[in-house]
This record gives sequence, structure tokens and C-alpha cells, in this order.
Amino acid sequence: MNGEAVVVADGLAKRYGDLAAVDGISFQVGRGEIFGMVGPNGAGKTTTVECVEGLRRPDAGRVTVLGLDPWRDAQALRERMGVQLQTASLPQRIKVGEAVGLFASFYRQAADGNALLARLGLGNTRKAYVSQLSGGQRQRLFVALALINRPEVVFLDELTTGLDPQGRRATWDLVREIRAEGATVVLTTHFMDEAERLCDRVAIVDHGRIIALDAPATLVRRLGAEARVVFDLDGDLNAATLGVLDGVRRVEREGERVVVCGGSLAAVVNTLEADGVRFRNLRTEQPNLEDVFLALTGHRDARESGNPL
Ligand SMILES: Nc1ncnc2c1ncn2[C@@H]1O[C@H](COP(=O)(O)OP(=O)(O)O)[C@@H](O)[C@H]1O
Ligand SMILES: [Mg+2]
Repeated sequence: MNGEAVVVADGLAKRYGDLAAVDGISFQVGRGEIFGMVGPNGAGKTTTVECVEGLRRPDAGRVTVLGLDPWRDAQALRERMGVQLQTASLPQRIKVGEAVGLFASFYRQAADGNALLARLGLGNTRKAYVSQLSGGQRQRLFVALALINRPEVVFLDELTTGLDPQGRRATWDLVREIRAEGATVVLTTHFMDEAERLCDRVAIVDHGRIIALDAPATLVRRLGAEARVVFDLDGDLNAATLGVLDGVRRVEREGERVVVCGGSLAAVVNTLEADGVRFRNLRTEQPNLEDVFLALTGHRDARESGNPL
């Protein structure tokens, strides 16, 4: 991280009974960064972010946001920080326009609510009840509400969960726009690909701890993993003939999907053809953040599954 720290978390810890939900987490976020906390459901991301926002009190550790203490200086910070609401925190019988007006009234320096809705593609939903919105519209409304006070730092928690691929992409663009306008963004996600594409730096969180923290490309490079040749099988395969090719370290099989770690695409194709193996969807895959997570934790449950808290 270069330059001024907008968020400083130092030694954060939070227990729920016997569970160390956050177990000594430290990180800093620089001004203008998109910083991500990524990890499986239950890793402790939300608890960490809520401690940083001042919504939960950590058992130990220190936090500053924009140089302020989120507990002691809550009032001053509220004006300068944007927090994405959880679905449950809006009344059912409220209209979109009313929600925006209500939230704007909380702040001294509110943005123009109608302009904000229009920018988020919600201009024609102002008279609709929040409960009538689609998942994607609701997520965008929550972003609008988080931006209503023109915040310097915005916290977004699992912003794209429940969205279709198109909605996710649109949301990523929106996050980039928020940053381009000068805000610092702190987000959480259990999607490794999202963190990899969107974040300048990511903290990989597992069991309440940060197990790696850096730019996604740096983490992937440091892993030193080779590219893979992947294909789907139509029929049988003698994996041994692939296993002895130059550079091949491992051949994995999951159902009809075969993953050849290392080796060249040409050598794999030639071997398959020489052996008369029928295959589809042949491609190479570069190592990614998911591989980093797997290598560090030995488990794979960062993939989409379940409902994040
Ligand atoms: N209010 C709570 N009471 C008890 N346990 C909780 C509470 N909130 C979260 N937890 C537990 O703490 C752990 C971390 O949760 P959370 O911070 O929500 O993780 P994440 O956001 O990474 O999914 C989980 O095991 C979760 O069940
Ligand atoms: Mg969460």
C-alpha cells in the first residue's frame, strides 16, 4: 500500500462464545484503493468489516477510519463513510424514492437522490416498493443508499451475491466508477474471481485470520503454479500417456473433466489424437486466486455455495 491509510485495523479480535470469529486481523487500506476481503462463508469477513464500521465492538484491537475512531467519533465518521445495508434493515412498505429521501435526510451533505438513482439505472423505480425490486435492483439501491452522503470511504459486503453474471459485471463497473470519483472502497466477497478482477489488493481470510494479503496478480505469481490444459472426455482415457509428457506434473480427473497440470497444449492434443481419445472443450487455464486459496488452505469451499451471512 502506498500513501495515506484510510482504514487501519490492528489486531482485531471478536469471539462469539467459543468461536474466534475474528482472530487477530490487521490490515491497512490506502486512499483510492479497492480493497477486498475474500474468503469462504463464515471466514469472519462481515464481522471484521462491522468492527471497522463501528457496528460491532471488537474484543481486542484498534481501528481507525479516516483517522477517526469508529466508536468514539461515530457521529463525525457517519458523515464521511458509506455503509451498505443488509436487506433486512429496510422496512417492507417503503418506496425506493422514500428510502433515498429518508437516508438523504440523515446527512448534512447529501447527494441528489434522484440523480443517484438515475445513475444506477433505478430512475424509473422511484415509485416502486423496495420489496418489488429484483435482486439486482435492490443491490443497486443499497449502493445508492451507501453513496447518498458522498462518502470518502465505502464498505460493500457481498455486493454481487444473488446476481446473474450480467448483474455482477455491471456492479463491478459501478464499484470502479465509485473509485474513479475518488472514494476508497472496502468490499467483502466469497467469489475469488470477483476479488481477482476487481480489487487492487486482497486479504484472503480463513478461520478469522488473514492468510495472505497483496495484489491478486502478485499472490498468483508468488504461487508459481503452471498453466493447465483442461478438456472434457468423451469416453476413456489412459492418463499414463499424458502423465509422462514433458513438463506434466499431474493429471487430475473429475468426472469427464480432465486437468493436466503443466505440459504444452500441443503435446496434450498430439497425445490424445495418437491415442484415439475423443475430447471436447480443450483449453488452457492460467493459475488464479482460487488456486492461491487452495494452496494456502487445502480446501476449496471458497467456491459459490450457501448463503453468506
Ligand atoms: N452474532 C453472531 N453470533 C454468533 N456467531 C456469529 C455471529 N455473527 C457471526 N457469527 C459466526 O462467526 C463466524 C464468522 O461470521 P462472519 O463474520 O459473518 O463471516 P463471513 O462474513 O466471512 O461469512 C461464522 O462462523 C458465524 O457463524
Ligand atoms: Mg459475510
